[in-house]
Amino acid sequence: MISVRVIDPADLALFDEWYDALWAGVTAGREAALVVGREALGYSLRTPGPLKRRIAVGAFEDGRVLGAMLFEYRLTDNLDTVEVEIDVPPHHRRRGAGTALWQWAVTRAAQLGRTIFQTELGVPSEPWPGAEFAGRLGFSVEHVEDHLVVPLPYDDVRLDELRRSAGVLDGYRLTSWVGVCPPEHQQAYADLHTAMDQDVPTGGMTREAVPWTVEKLQASEQRIDRNYLALVTMAHTLSGEPAGYTLMYLPRADEANAQQDDTLVLREHRGHNLGTHLKLANLDQLAKHRTTQRFLHTWTAFSNGPMQKVNARFGFRSVEQHRELELTYPRLRPAARAVVLDPSDRVLLVRFEFSSGPLWATPGGGLEEGESLREGLHRELREEIGLDAPDDPIHLWHQEVVAEGHAAGYDGVINDYFLVRTDPFTVGGTMTEAELQAENVHGHRWWTLDELLAAETRFAPRALPALLQDLVRNGPPTIPTRLGQ
Ligand SMILES: CC(C)(COP(=O)(O)OP(=O)(O)OC[C@H]1O[C@@H](n2cnc3c(N)ncnc32)[C@H](O)[C@@H]1OP(=O)(O)O)[C@@H](O)C(=O)NCCC(=O)NCCS
Repeated sequence: MISVRVIDPADLALFDEWYDALWAGVTAGREAALVVGREALGYSLRTPGPLKRRIAVGAFEDGRVLGAMLFEYRLTDNLDTVEVEIDVPPHHRRRGAGTALWQWAVTRAAQLGRTIFQTELGVPSEPWPGAEFAGRLGFSVEHVEDHLVVPLPYDDVRLDELRRSAGVLDGYRLTSWVGVCPPEHQQAYADLHTAMDQDVPTGGMTREAVPWTVEKLQASEQRIDRNYLALVTMAHTLSGEPAGYTLMYLPRADEANAQQDDTLVLREHRGHNLGTHLKLANLDQLAKHRTTQRFLHTWTAFSNGPMQKVNARFGFRSVEQHRELELTYPRLRPAARAVVLDPSDRVLLVRFEFSSGPLWATPGGGLEEGESLREGLHRELREEIGLDAPDDPIHLWHQEVVAEGHAAGYDGVINDYFLVRTDPFTVGGTMTEAELQAENVHGHRWWTLDELLAAETRFAPRALPALLQDLVRNGPPTIPTRLGQ
């Protein structure tokens, strides 16, 4: 049975096992996959910054990690969006670990009130598992870049040739630094970042570009500097106006790979070979600061003709497609519910009275802010029926219903159902009868399977009799069964 739970990044042995799964999933079958380093990711998870929340989630079986998910969302902008990265090592694939992690993401995003899912994929060839998986979930490809690589150290002959063809840099001067930006350049460097965010093609991806301030730049650089050495070259006009920059990262824990990150030349300064001059100056810095790197990576949009041209001159070769994908979900209200079974497999149902007639449903209800599914389940069962749920109940079904009238202010609901085995007990929670009736609950009863199968009344979920029959006969599913109505 596969279960999903959050990884505590301070539990170093568990974090390591989770990271191993992530690494094996990301790199499988890819010549040049770049994975955030173990130390960098561990630091970022253990020391959250003010701008982004990152959650490590694992799919477990028999106490072992089968698959890994990074679930992230920004805290001060892009408030409708979450980013997910799901990675399952090849020997654990096609058993539902990816789907179970995805279901967790759907419920958590709903809880956060966020409806836009974004993800990135490295695709070296077709068909590709990640592309198939994401396509099945409904993601669409909104932006494609080439992931390019050039071997290091640079070929001297090629560099000389590049220097010759770039000519003399006229009308500009270059300033290079290593690490965080010197104070005298911070304002210009922040403004160039803002221009970069506005200029860089992102296709159909939903992205709110927020202007950079010096404070934001400092905070961001300080975090990055712990795990990456930044090499930066900036171009100024002779009167001191910023004209562009290029930025390369050397992961401190990875000796083999260097990442060519942003390169920007402001529109009014294009056409002077500035892009090539910037990159050449930064390569000089690279030669001075490290010689262990074997590959330099970069990413450039297909549509970005000028940058593709500069890359080609430097000898970059495309190794895979880097795809950005997005999926917009309806606004769903998440709820935790229990299939409460007694030793003779009778199920406890509560009776709702609606204007459309009675409805028999499993106990449980909507999650409160910040509550996990299991916490919500515990609270609901105590309030509604006076039962203590087990700490780690089996997750049976995941239901997404998009329809009006299920929850005011929402497009529908998500119900996650858990199995709760109990001895017979006197039903009665902390809510008064009047409080229950205010929520349309008018009583409860235990049903045998035969009674359910013979009943001519409405159940929620609709197929409850057949689902219970299957549960009693075959036991719980390996991963939560996806339900419709
Ligand atoms: C994509 C990935 C996470 C899927 O993990 P998984 O545990 O194998 O996923 P599941 O078993 O839940 O697969 C769910 C469905 O996705 C589709 N799918 C997954 N892999 C597929 C493949 N290789 N070919 C065709 N369809 C595939 C199938 O419809 C599958 O259902 P089925 O097995 O009943 O046919 C895994 O292949 C992986 O880690 N790839 C590398 C990283 C990546 O690309 N992540 C996706 C971006 S978030």
